[in-house]
Amino acid sequence: MKYERSIIITGGAGFIGSHVVRLFVRKYPTYRIINLDKLTYAGNLANLKDIENCPNYVFEKSDICDYETVRKLVSGYDVTGIIHLAAESHVDRSILDPFTFARTNVLGTLTLLQAAREYWEPSGWEGKRFYHISTDEVYGALELTRPEGDPSSEECGGGPYGDEFFTEETKYQPHSPYSAAKASSDHFVRAYHDTYGMPTVITNCSNNYGPYQFPEKLIPLFINNIRQRKPLPVYGKGENVRDWLYVEDHARAIDLVFHEGKAGETYNIGGFNEWKNIDLIKVLIKTADRLLGRPEGADDDLITFVTDRKGHDLRYAIDSTKLKEELGWEPSLQFEEGIEKTVRWYLDNQEWLDEVTSGDYLRYYDRMYGGR
Ligand code: NAD
Ligand code: DAU
Repeated sequence: MKYERSIIITGGAGFIGSHVVRLFVRKYPTYRIINLDKLTYAGNLANLKDIENCPNYVFEKSDICDYETVRKLVSGYDVTGIIHLAAESHVDRSILDPFTFARTNVLGTLTLLQAAREYWEPSGWEGKRFYHISTDEVYGALELTRPEGDPSSEECGGGPYGDEFFTEETKYQPHSPYSAAKASSDHFVRAYHDTYGMPTVITNCSNNYGPYQFPEKLIPLFINNIRQRKPLPVYGKGENVRDWLYVEDHARAIDLVFHEGKAGETYNIGGFNEWKNIDLIKVLIKTADRLLGRPEGADDDLITFVTDRKGHDLRYAIDSTKLKEELGWEPSLQFEEGIEKTVRWYLDNQEWLDEVTSGDYLRYYDRMYGGR
């Protein structure tokens, strides 16, 4: 079949990437979707079981830092669009191993940019797009000026925990090795736009939640621990604030920005949905206990306050007004609905969680692709 266009999605076997791949494969049968993923510990092909046999889906096990391979894939598939999600994504790991984060997030992004440039520039930039998925963490941390939370402040244009939001104009001030590496990759993407004229676009999104997230991140880790009645390690006093967005809403935003975002622009993506960690954790316990048929309060004593994360950012809050006003995007799901769906998904998908926590998922590629 002759495809209308071929798009590489990097990191498609990860959490957000798998939702983006699924959306594109189903919504655009005339696009060939190439999932380029190295399958690190965070890449799990079982996340894509339901679409792995679709004719317009291709999986390529490759490292984004491998210039020759990336170059061959871009030209071999005649790729006109790249949606770049592959990254080392966990802040705690970046504190222990910053080099891996610099390699993948900085050099990997530069490798993709250069390979795309080499193939695209000679025939002109028309019809090409390099879309880089970034994070709100590049902006640093906001103050917690209302530690107790005041939802009425939202009516005056502020957030429940503080007046300020991250906008597209906020100065970059990353604190962790993860966010420093993501910030650096954002700068390289802008440099390719400004220097060579590459049609790039960047989005910076807040914390995602939903199915298929690796259970090292707060929400899936805690749901799994509640189910097994294991301690819930709350960093510090649980006072840090995060702005949560359901992953399918992020994937919809990515679809919109890929097709309609203006070249050279940056868009923030967030749900105007701030939660203090400890309050979110209480919602998780209450929801999980109800779904597991346990009495209310049965698992409250699992909460265990532990040493704080080094350099722990206090508050993130994204202002996504630009995306709403210019491209008409809004989150579709209320948080209560999203969290109920998410807790239910992890409780119903025991096998997925067991495979991930035991390491069995790492052999899925060999089973599916014969170790090619
Ligand atoms: P993830 O850790 O779940 O998945 C990352 C994927 O990248 C995995 O499939 C992994 O195998 C792949 N990968 C890692 N190194 C690679 C390499 N060298 N070559 C090829 N593939 C490689 O990550 P996620 O949470 O889905 O995040 C995806 C992207 O979105 C990242 O760029 C992250 O910075 C960004 N982001 C994440 C969130 C969030 O809340 N999770 C929020 C905003 C932005
Ligand atoms: O804001 C977007 C970012 O959100 C993404 O760029 C990152 O890739 C993603 O991992 C996420 O970063 P966080 O550090 O905010 O997510 P995490 O789930 O690790 O932690 C959420 C909050 O919960 C944070 O304040 C730390 C706290 N926490 C986390 C874990 C894993 C705990 O208190 N205990 C824990 O065990």
